[in-house]
Amino acid sequence: MSIEITPLHPVLAGEVAGIDTTQKLTPEAVAAIASGMDRYAVLVFRDQRLTDEQQLQFSQSFGALEFTNGTGIAKPGEQRLHPAFADVSNLDKDNQILARDNRRRLYSLGNMLWHSDSSFKPVPAKYSILSGRVVATSGGETEFADMRAAYDALDDATKAEIEPLVCEHSLIYSRETLGFGDLTEAERATMSPVRQALVRTHPGSGRKSLYLASHIGTIIGWPMPEARAFIRDLTEHATQRRFVYAHHWRAFDLVVWDNRATMHRVRRYDSGQVRDMRRTTVAGTALTAVQPGQMQATGAQAAE
Ligand SMILES: [Fe+2]
Repeated sequence: MSIEITPLHPVLAGEVAGIDTTQKLTPEAVAAIASGMDRYAVLVFRDQRLTDEQQLQFSQSFGALEFTNGTGIAKPGEQRLHPAFADVSNLDKDNQILARDNRRRLYSLGNMLWHSDSSFKPVPAKYSILSGRVVATSGGETEFADMRAAYDALDDATKAEIEPLVCEHSLIYSRETLGFGDLTEAERATMSPVRQALVRTHPGSGRKSLYLASHIGTIIGWPMPEARAFIRDLTEHATQRRFVYAHHWRAFDLVVWDNRATMHRVRRYDSGQVRDMRRTTVAGTALTAVQPGQMQATGAQAAE
C-alpha cells in the first residue's frame, strides 16, 4: 500500500495519489489517510467517480456519520439525497435549479461565510467529505483556513486571554449576519445555541487551534458587542491569505477536511448553472465545552 501526498500550500492541504476511494479501504490505507489528515488538515483526491453508496462506505471508514435530519430547514420529503448527505448543491429534489428567491437557497448562502461544519451541535463534526459531481465552471471555489497556523501566529498575551474562553454557536447567528431571519419557531427551537471552547487541541497532531465560525454569537460572560468585535478581529487574523488554501474544483474531486483544525467557505458562482456537490460528515466524539445544565464532571474539555 503506497500513498503519496503532495503539499498544495505552505501550511495546509495536500493532494493524495495512490488511493481509489470507490473501493473498500484497507486498515493501512485508513491509517495513512488519517495520518495525512493530522498533518495537512485538507486532502484532495482527484478523479474519484463515486456513487453515493461508495461515498458512504469511504466516509464510514473514519467513524460514525452525522445525519442531517433535524438540522437546518429542509423538511422530510424535500430532500434529494440520503439523510447522511448534506446536499450543498443548488438543486431541488427533482434536480431542478433552485430559484433565486428560494428559501433553501437563501439559507444555504450561509456557506459563503467562514465556518466549521456542525459547530452548532454540542458534539461538533470531525471530517467533512465533499464530492464534486458537477462543479461550477467559474467561481465556486472552496477556501480553507488553517486554524492551527492562525493560533500559532497569535502573540502570547492573546493566547493567554483566549485559552479559557467559551463561545456560543448557533445557525441563527450566522443566518442573521446575512439578514436571513425568516425562521419559524419550530426551526429556531432546533437551533438553540451550544457552547464551544475557543481554543482546542487536536487529538491527532497535539496542535492547538482557534475554534471560530460565523455561527458564533457571543462569548460566555462577555457583553455581546464586545464579544462580536473580538471574534471578528480573530476571524480577520485567522483568514489572512497566508493561512488560506483555495480549492479550484475539477469534476470528481473528493475533498476531505478536518473541521477541528480548519474553517472553510464557498465563493460566489453562477447560480444559474448546475452545481452538484454532495457532503458526508464524520461525527466528532467529544464535547469541547461544558453545556448549559451539564455537570463539570462529565468529561467536557476533552481534547477533541
Ligand atoms: Fe460547510
